[in-house]
Amino acid sequence: MIVGLDVGYYKTAVAVSGSRQCFPGNQAQRGELQTVLFESVACKYVESLMSVHRASASMLVRFQGDDTEYAVGQSAIDRSGLLINEESERWIESQIWRILALAALGQVSHATRVDLDVVVGLPISTIQNDGAIEHVRAVLNGSHSIKLGDRGSWQKLEVRVVRVVPQPFGCVLDRVLDDRGTMRDQDLARGRFGVLDVGGGTTQVLTVQRLQDLPDRRGSMKRGGLYVARLVRQWLRHNCPGLELSDFEISRAIVAGHVFYYGDQVDLTPAINAARETFGEAVVAFCASYWGEGADLDRVFLCGGAQAMVAGTLAERYQHAETVPDPQLANVRGFLKYGLFLSRQSSY
Ligand SMILES: Nc1ncnc2c1ncn2[C@@H]1O[C@H](COP(=O)(O)OP(=O)(O)OP(=O)(O)O)[C@@H](O)[C@H]1O
Ligand SMILES: [Mg+2]
Repeated sequence: MIVGLDVGYYKTAVAVSGSRQCFPGNQAQRGELQTVLFESVACKYVESLMSVHRASASMLVRFQGDDTEYAVGQSAIDRSGLLINEESERWIESQIWRILALAALGQVSHATRVDLDVVVGLPISTIQNDGAIEHVRAVLNGSHSIKLGDRGSWQKLEVRVVRVVPQPFGCVLDRVLDDRGTMRDQDLARGRFGVLDVGGGTTQVLTVQRLQDLPDRRGSMKRGGLYVARLVRQWLRHNCPGLELSDFEISRAIVAGHVFYYGDQVDLTPAINAARETFGEAVVAFCASYWGEGADLDRVFLCGGAQAMVAGTLAERYQHAETVPDPQLANVRGFLKYGLFLSRQSSY
């Protein structure tokens, strides 16, 4: 089974091509691209004393040889009391990264043994570090026995191949390849364009020409949607003293446009607009350091969950900027399509 995997600072995403055995409970059409997305949080699972809704069972995971049961995604946020995420350069070396990656891979099938060829994305800043690709291969490759939620039996994940792709390149692959991994847009494949990926912890820029990224025109800054959440947190400190929300809660409040303070709804629009402006300007200046006015680029693609925070400001400078469909999942979709593309080549 070919799998696309993206363990981001905010969300973990996995994509497979639909088959009868993929995503238990999901009525996937054969060949239809399927994705699962959950928050990138993992912690030791502690049972509530009383819960009317049990934690979503598939979001609990055990590893053979380790007595601890881990919660991932929303049930981990509920239990960890985590207020602020850390966007560390050493993210891929953390135990949490491994738990999230394997929990995601376990989602794709209910078979007791699954052979997996994984295409995984890494941030541009990480992939350039010596040993990063080898490290990720060592973590994922080989045999992993896991048990998800209340599934009765252990599942053996046999990871045979791990390919590593710079995260924003997934968006490119999603544009040029169709769901079967065949080239669908030859013009794009020959052209030169920019990609801006605005995630939770990072904002990444790639410049792509004839489907290769240009080394002197790529970069990453350590600010994304979570930076916006922190700006809003500062506003809350002044305007709603005593209201302590986690990064995740603030991020959701930003999408909703309000918070509740002593039970009353407070409009967040002024805080969001100010944060959007500050962040948008920083991102456009960052892009300009690689693209200038962008006149030599055919198009600029905008992806990542937090793209909406910068799209307006970006469009003022780059009129040829466009948000890709399903921007939060574009990268992982592209990773999967790349795996499908490679499986069609004899060298795979
Ligand atoms: N509708 C929306 N409006 C504004 N922000 C949003 C929206 N949906 C998601 N976000 C923000 O997008 C960010 C997550 O995006 P994404 O899933 O691409 O991040 P990630 O890939 O996990 O992070 P990174 O790429 O930095 O590792 C969060 O900060 C979230 O608050
Ligand atoms: Mg990302």
